[in-house]
Amino acid sequence: MSSTSAPIRFLTGITTSGTPHLGNYVGSIRPAVRASLNPGVQSFYFLADYHALIKIDEPARIQRSTLEIAASWLAAGLDPERVVFYRQSDVPEIPELTWFLTCVTGKGVLNRAHAYKASVDKNTAAGVDPDSDVTAGLFMYPVLMGADILMFNAHHVPVGRDQIQHIEMARDMANSFNHRYGEHFVPPQAVIEESVATLPGLDGRKMSKSYDNTIPLFASRAQLQKLIAGIKTDSRAPGEPKDTEGSALFQIYQAFASAEETDKLRAAYASGIAWGEAKQLLLERIDQEVAPMRARYQHLMDHPEEVEALLQAGAQKARAIATPFMARLRHAVGLRGLAGSAEAAKTKQAKTAGAGFKQYREKDGKFYFKLADSKGAVLLQSRGLDTPQLAGKSIAMLVASGAAALAELQELLEPVADTAQVSAALDALRAG
Ligand code: TRP
Repeated sequence: MSSTSAPIRFLTGITTSGTPHLGNYVGSIRPAVRASLNPGVQSFYFLADYHALIKIDEPARIQRSTLEIAASWLAAGLDPERVVFYRQSDVPEIPELTWFLTCVTGKGVLNRAHAYKASVDKNTAAGVDPDSDVTAGLFMYPVLMGADILMFNAHHVPVGRDQIQHIEMARDMANSFNHRYGEHFVPPQAVIEESVATLPGLDGRKMSKSYDNTIPLFASRAQLQKLIAGIKTDSRAPGEPKDTEGSALFQIYQAFASAEETDKLRAAYASGIAWGEAKQLLLERIDQEVAPMRARYQHLMDHPEEVEALLQAGAQKARAIATPFMARLRHAVGLRGLAGSAEAAKTKQAKTAGAGFKQYREKDGKFYFKLADSKGAVLLQSRGLDTPQLAGKSIAMLVASGAAALAELQELLEPVADTAQVSAALDALRAG
């Protein structure tokens, strides 16, 4: 990938409503940290604390969970220099965008959201009012999530299967908004990691807070040993061959072990390893991976001010994108300053009529393009590109998609002074 092509943006949120467990680590934290190291991707990871308010009304728990989750991700190797790691509530543009999206989302669409529907079905079955104990926050959950994603025009959103519907709704919001106000949003796509198995918990069901069967990621070694001792097994005695099929112990081991290690344990099962011995192997294998991170986790838990400083730095990076984008969106929907509005309409027409692109090559051997108005004032200027094709393709995208392509092409362009003007010129060009 050349240095001048725009990166693919990944984004995912973690609701701050609990303590990370091994299932979260294997299913989300570990793959996300690995993916963030790929070149050519820009990753956004955030603590979804506005979402947590929907489920939790204990302030201390929200604060505690925010610290635990942030410390876990950092201890697991997330590099805050490399990714944008922030707390949702540090970006006030997100709730503002939530309102914009609320106004382009059909109420009927939200009626069909799984989480809301599940509550309604439960109430109906219980013979109480369908909306009994349902807050408007739960109802609006998908819109807040849409704002999280569209705020940064993320292309890919890694999520669990239960979240696919929310991503589809975010796509619909992007399209509805674009249809009304011009191309501002990239419709996002869900990314489901097929290879990442869901981890079973202590009782063999999916490891989940709601089943109370979890193993905390950063349990001490002693706690870990105690919890592993409680993993459900059958009653086969030492020396009796054991089934790997349906063995929670085996599946958890597999999530941490290499293929050879897993084969060895499979053979040991066949030749009748004692459950106690297998549990010891599991303890050692998990501890081998987690122990080096545990020290960092403990340090961060003891120094919340360090975590806070990292999150503040992350919020700054996030807002460097969100604030100008929100300004553009406010303008797009008509939330505009009034001064000079009568004149603006006229000059905009005069200025944008006859605007055009120009492609050229500089002494540095690189290819450039710019968009200038009829008087020659430059509205948009590219950086030096490696090929004329890239310049051509970028211009085509700008003409086709208007200002929405600006986010996509951000890396190829010099900072844009007046997005509204560029947007108008592109619209005029497209209109012919
Ligand atoms: N709803 C997600 C969950 O419960 C968390 C979340 C909030 C999220 N905002 C998001 C995930 C945006 C991806 C993108 O898991």
